Amino acid sequence: MAATKTRSRGGAKNARPASRTIDDLLADFGTTMPRKEAPAPTPPAEKLFPHTVKSSGVRRMGHGWSPTMPPLAGYQMTSEETPVLWPLISGDGLPPWGAEMGYDVLSGGKFYCDPMGWVLDDSIPVTNPNIFIFGKPGRGKSATVKAFMIRMIKFGYRSLVLGDVKDEYEDLANFLGVTPFRIGPGLPGRINPLDLGPLGADWEKQTAEEQEKRATVIFNRWLMLIRGLVASQGVVFSPTEERVINKVLRHLTGWSAGASRLKPVTIPLVWAALDSPTKDLVTDCRYESEQAFFNGTRPLRDALGALCEGSLQGMFDTESTFEPDWRKPIQTLSLRSLHETGNKVAVGIALMCLNSWGQGMREAASAGDRRIVLRDEAWLQTRLSLEAVEALDANLRLSRTEGDIQLVTYHKPSDPLSAGDQGSQAAQIAKDLLNLSDVRILMGQDESVADELGRLMGLSEMQQGVITNWAMQEKGRALWMVGDQRYKVQTLLTPLEKRLTYTNEAIDPGV
Ligand SMILES: Nc1ncnc2c1ncn2[C@@H]1O[C@H](COP(=O)(O)OP(=O)(O)O)[C@@H](O)[C@H]1O
Ligand SMILES: [Mg+2]
Repeated sequence: MAATKTRSRGGAKNARPASRTIDDLLADFGTTMPRKEAPAPTPPAEKLFPHTVKSSGVRRMGHGWSPTMPPLAGYQMTSEETPVLWPLISGDGLPPWGAEMGYDVLSGGKFYCDPMGWVLDDSIPVTNPNIFIFGKPGRGKSATVKAFMIRMIKFGYRSLVLGDVKDEYEDLANFLGVTPFRIGPGLPGRINPLDLGPLGADWEKQTAEEQEKRATVIFNRWLMLIRGLVASQGVVFSPTEERVINKVLRHLTGWSAGASRLKPVTIPLVWAALDSPTKDLVTDCRYESEQAFFNGTRPLRDALGALCEGSLQGMFDTESTFEPDWRKPIQTLSLRSLHETGNKVAVGIALMCLNSWGQGMREAASAGDRRIVLRDEAWLQTRLSLEAVEALDANLRLSRTEGDIQLVTYHKPSDPLSAGDQGSQAAQIAKDLLNLSDVRILMGQDESVADELGRLMGLSEMQQGVITNWAMQEKGRALWMVGDQRYKVQTLLTPLEKRLTYTNEAIDPGV
């Protein structure tokens, strides 16, 4: 782009003799040129633009007339440099694959979301299909997720909602002919977070090597969960506790005794094993006597005991009564009745249990089994403790990646940072957590969050403005960050989807 300057030569023009035309020149040689017939004038009514308007506008009140044109700045730069000044001018756009979400407001074209397809396409800078969605409550995070789930069904994707704290996925599940699974105080549903999951199936038929591999995966998941659960009760989980829990789990399943089948384990069983330890366990954990074992493991026992009492009693302490039907388009685990008790710690712990259980359920899946695994309002879990952040991090990191799209929704980026002091280890892990997703959808936010967003996501001021201004004007508007590309997208809902995603009943009784 370059500005060109033209110089007026008006002064010299008058001094020159009248110039000769081509006709004058040819007449000197006694010849003439054939003339092209002038086209017949079009009647004014048929003209497409009967009046032309000069660039300075129409000289009339209210018609935008300007006596002089504003001076235009000229720049010269390469096409590589232009995105610095115009960061939101996107390139070719994304290919028309996957869920049709709405439109890209800069190009006017349709906007499609296909995280797995993006990963497979080398020209799109995305290396994992996970998506983090941020937005102020009510801006349309859940609605975007629901629309995505519905629209991915035709591409063979099924959804798993790990903890629906407001029961807002129930309408969608019922519409798809699936009965949501409810867990809560007094409800009959049970989930055992220490479920073996599909890795425990056909155990006897596996080779010793395969059994070893599977056992490591299962024990690691359980350890991570128990660590998170214990730490959320304010109990330190040191390498000593880790050793004790590792031993207990291996004893209880029969793994240390070389059992051909792993026995089912529950949290009360782990607690009971600590409360009346066998001699083997005491010596294995290198305690001198039973009394020394009791003294050493008291905080651990008390923390585990608390999980089997109070508001969580009868939810996560026996064998699972829920058998997910993976052929159905959606599986949702509702937690509203627990959420309504107002016990925030209990909700966080319940989400942690469901996340771990869900990870176990996805550790093995048949080829072509594609799933969208959702953790809505994940901050309810991660604000509990550093270990809770680590547990989510491990669930996301270790989940089977081929075929699964992990979706996580948050209010604001600092939600994962709320566990522990800023700048601390928790904040670092939380930042790493964000790096687990190459796709981030930033929906409307208040000004106060803008700086924080900018810092964490590397946004320019203009991009921050998109979130705090443009995205706040309509629901479903968001800045989509796909790798290092940015898109300004408006998600559109069909009338049916608007009904299925409606979440404002409580504050809008008129509808
Ligand atoms: N793109 C959209 N178009 C129209 N309405 C929308 C859109 N996105 C969300 N809504 C409506 O806005 C309300 C709040 O959306 P919701 O997804 O529950 O917000 P969040 O999860 O961010 O708190 C819902 O009633 C939903 O139907
Ligand atoms: Mg929501």
